[in-house]
Amino acid sequence: MTTAPEAPLADATAMNRFHVIFREALDAVPRLVGGAPVEDADRAEHVGTYYDNVLRLLHAHHEAEDLTIYPLMVERLPDDVEVINRVNAEHEAVLGTLGAAEQALAAWRAEPSAGARDAATSAMADMGTILLAHLDHEEAEVVPLIGKCITVAEWGEMSATAFQHFSGDKPWLVIGLIQEQMLPSENETMEANMPPPVRDFWTGTGRPMFQGFVADLRG
Ligand SMILES: [Fe+2]
Ligand SMILES: [Fe+2]
Repeated sequence: MTTAPEAPLADATAMNRFHVIFREALDAVPRLVGGAPVEDADRAEHVGTYYDNVLRLLHAHHEAEDLTIYPLMVERLPDDVEVINRVNAEHEAVLGTLGAAEQALAAWRAEPSAGARDAATSAMADMGTILLAHLDHEEAEVVPLIGKCITVAEWGEMSATAFQHFSGDKPWLVIGLIQEQMLPSENETMEANMPPPVRDFWTGTGRPMFQGFVADLRG
């Protein structure tokens, strides 16, 4: 390690918990997309906006990793640069299939035919294969390295960067999805760090909106 970070170090296992959002979304594709009734525009819109926001969260997550923790690990762990760069480069491979999945989902939302639905299911499965490989590699090979050299403050910087890069239209949906996976103490910290108007919106309006949305989604 060339630069000794100030303690305390981050709990890197939060990465694994966060990734469950994407794993669950991919697992549910055959049921939520593949099993959606043909020509049911309301259902396609509901499922489609869920996946749109989850995929935009994925973009934001990878962009935040690229900008914050990966460069810091390269700088601080010279003996591990090969694995860090190899796993980081997988973000590009995910992007290669993500665009096709997003387009197929948008086409299904716009016209919920059987053909569009099946194309969206297939494009999501193709993207999921690449994404799951990346999540597996990151959790097995990179998370232990994060735990060696990334501080709590730097981890918080990654989260803040991800929120800045999030381009979805339902921030309350992704906050809820994140809170489902994080520990109670992590959720308390998240809420304590929200600007007061955002916290007030989340606790008063956003959380019930999230609960209603996922109850309908998951049936
Ligand atoms: Fe990650
Ligand atoms: Fe990643």
